[in-house]
Amino acid sequence: MSTTGSRNYRPNLHFTPPAMWTNDPNGMVYVNGVYHLFYQHYPKAPHWGPMHWGHAVSRDLLHWEHQPIALYPDEMGYIYSGSCVYDKENVSGYGTKEEPPLVALYTNHDPDGEQRQCLAYSTDGVHFEKTIHNPVIPNPGISDFRDPKVFYNPVKNCWSLVLAAKDRVHFYQSADLKHWEKTGEFGPEENLAPGIWECPDLFQARTEDGDSIWVLVVSMLMDTEDGRSRTQYFLGDFDGDRFFVTEKADEVLWLDFGFDNYAGVIFQNMEEPVLLGWAMNWEYANETPTGEYCGQMTLARKLRVGRTDRGLRLISEFVGLEKLTARLEEVEGPQKLESETFLLEMEGTGTIVLSNEQGEELIVEVTEDEILADRSRAGEQEFQKSFPTPAYSALSVPRLRKDGRLLLVFDVSVLEVFADDGAVPVTMVAYPTKPYDRVAAEGAGKVRICQWKEQ
Ligand code: FRU
Repeated sequence: MSTTGSRNYRPNLHFTPPAMWTNDPNGMVYVNGVYHLFYQHYPKAPHWGPMHWGHAVSRDLLHWEHQPIALYPDEMGYIYSGSCVYDKENVSGYGTKEEPPLVALYTNHDPDGEQRQCLAYSTDGVHFEKTIHNPVIPNPGISDFRDPKVFYNPVKNCWSLVLAAKDRVHFYQSADLKHWEKTGEFGPEENLAPGIWECPDLFQARTEDGDSIWVLVVSMLMDTEDGRSRTQYFLGDFDGDRFFVTEKADEVLWLDFGFDNYAGVIFQNMEEPVLLGWAMNWEYANETPTGEYCGQMTLARKLRVGRTDRGLRLISEFVGLEKLTARLEEVEGPQKLESETFLLEMEGTGTIVLSNEQGEELIVEVTEDEILADRSRAGEQEFQKSFPTPAYSALSVPRLRKDGRLLLVFDVSVLEVFADDGAVPVTMVAYPTKPYDRVAAEGAGKVRICQWKEQ
């Protein structure tokens, strides 16, 4: 693939690597006012390759400062996805109580062999040492065995982790983050969307009536026609060893209804769950027309659980966009766009059309019953064979909260729509060959916009 790209598609607010390839967010952890984002990275080409962990830090989840590569492939293989925790009590012994270490658990993937879980630690938040005791969780004879997500277990007051094991997840616990003992499994009997499970996460989210509920998130390489890579979740309880579904649903609960939000997990060491995903789909990830970089993260979204017309569902809220929401101005008629990045709010039903002089259009529509999004004429399509097909062009989702408002962020080549007050998130990339320079709202209720300027 060429590294020049057709034009600069780099978003302003969404994280992109300094150059070359990224997929999953990894090791996200919040320490003393700083958000750490590690990420699957191949620094030598804008396509997937031997995986490293790239690293960036931010104080506001919008401006990221690149850091040196944190983990390089080694004699055990590539560095696949995993997580970091801030080991405040220094149970691992890799730091001190005064200067607690960051402890990373990740998968080593041997391209000719197996996958197993390994540990690395850092005392300065930048440089990582791998332990000589790796692997800390050897492979139990399962070909897909990866993506450990460590979390604090409030039931047993210890560290636990959840990892993906082919068509299910396994839970482990540890007193020192180094020795791990299996405590249980979940799936596949509750799963309505078969596939290979990847990048699980387990956390508690607040409900709108003041309680909390456990959420198990799993990304899946799908066997079905629902699109290649999607993320679903289950709502239930965690007894300290295992997870159980308590809110049975007769449909798959999708974390996002768009084509491009995968492998999302939450930051460790925060009061409330804040998730970032990879804003891409494996189906065409390696062939996007972005040139010298490839792949980006979603914006950060805070998650809670709310009652909707179809039962309890995750509700997403943008984090870090307060400056934009404070400056929203009414859209009267079709309006010129001065910026390739903007936030828009719509109350009620209506259609929003972003367009350019090439006649390219990205369309989002809210009807009485559905949320629709259509990128079939939004810009470049032919860079890969599936991208222009109906399965990846347009979608419609039943509404979940009919009186809810819609917030939309468009950022150069990434669209994130939070419809129905955040109950229907839709994330997708689009590649307009010229920037969209016009926004029109047809038959719409009140529409307000704030265009972004670098500050
Ligand atoms: C998910 C995934 C993970 C794996 C990583 C490899 O997108 O397939 O399961 O650890 O990407 O880059």
